[in-house]
Amino acid sequence: MLDKIGVIGAGYIGGVLVQELVRRRLAKTVAVTDPAPFVNPDDPPERQETAKKQSVAKGKALDIMEGTPLLGSDTILEASKGYEVLDGCDMIINTAGVPRKARPDGSFPSREELLEINLKVTGQVADAIARYCKNAMIISIANPLDAIVYTLNRKLDPPKNKIVGMAGMLDSSRYRTFVAQAAGVSVSNVEALVLGGHGDTMVPVRSCCRIAGMPVEKFVPADELEAIESRTRKAGGEVVGLLGFGSAFVSPALSALDMAEAIIYDKKKIVAACARLEGEYGVKGLFVGVPVILGAGGVERIIEHDLTDSEKSALDKSVAAVRKTCEEVDRMLGASAAV
Ligand code: APR
Repeated sequence: MLDKIGVIGAGYIGGVLVQELVRRRLAKTVAVTDPAPFVNPDDPPERQETAKKQSVAKGKALDIMEGTPLLGSDTILEASKGYEVLDGCDMIINTAGVPRKARPDGSFPSREELLEINLKVTGQVADAIARYCKNAMIISIANPLDAIVYTLNRKLDPPKNKIVGMAGMLDSSRYRTFVAQAAGVSVSNVEALVLGGHGDTMVPVRSCCRIAGMPVEKFVPADELEAIESRTRKAGGEVVGLLGFGSAFVSPALSALDMAEAIIYDKKKIVAACARLEGEYGVKGLFVGVPVILGAGGVERIIEHDLTDSEKSALDKSVAAVRKTCEEVDRMLGASAAV
């Protein structure tokens, strides 16, 4: 059990995270911060006053706190619209961001506009971490994943073991689910790794997919595996398409919790995670999804696996996509004084 874990952003993922952190008693204190609802200066003054008093973070924390006797958890909850509740956190889980939402005229912000807004949010998050808990272990979930982790790192420059992005764990969980369904076996029998960036170029590594230690091809024919791998790459979009809003939120939260538990309980667990590469897989200075060992030291080791030629070239392609986004980040941050 840690002394204090902070969750930044009390939206869909943040809500599940706080509830589960409390239920699993992973920290003595769980703090959550979110500025929502935002005060709209165009609203009438009474509406602005109401929005100032409201707090999604406080509301969710109170709701969960009132359930703690039923969970048998004595975890202390702290919540605020401000970042001061993060004071002294040992671990931060970052979900802060603005989703792709339709404007009142029905148009959508471009990817660039969204990245620009989320870089501003991430700048505020980084300032808060620097001010209140600069030694905390950081697990970041917010999208675009690779760019946000890169930005946090650019701003905070923490030791490379203390910052990690959650994506590969979720993508691997999706791959495992689909493989288990196709093979007609328990999900717990399926091991899988999805590497690379958290986007369309991610690489489900078939040579690492095992069912109870046996190669996946023994159970699922190649054409079906190809369809599963393609579905895995688009799995986030499939959920959003059904929900009609936001993004998947339960499986991402569970994935981050699994990573947090590996660190808190010093499990030395091998997972796919977005870690800073310094020459591994031929990459320097980027955050990319690779197999890592998670333990009390955070990202304790990056494992270099011998990929097949086609997996290697797919990973190179994915790294190129991550590099392109990070170059965009560098360009935007260079031009923006706000971050
Ligand atoms: N500081 C802290 N929180 C912020 C800030 C900020 N500067 N700006 C926005 N937020 C909050 C929002 O108010 C919102 O409540 O971040 C929260 C994000 O929650 P949701 O919009 O519900 O999004 P969620 O589904 O939880 O996903 C969070 O993780 O997987 C990614 O794509 C997903 O980037 C998204 C993030």
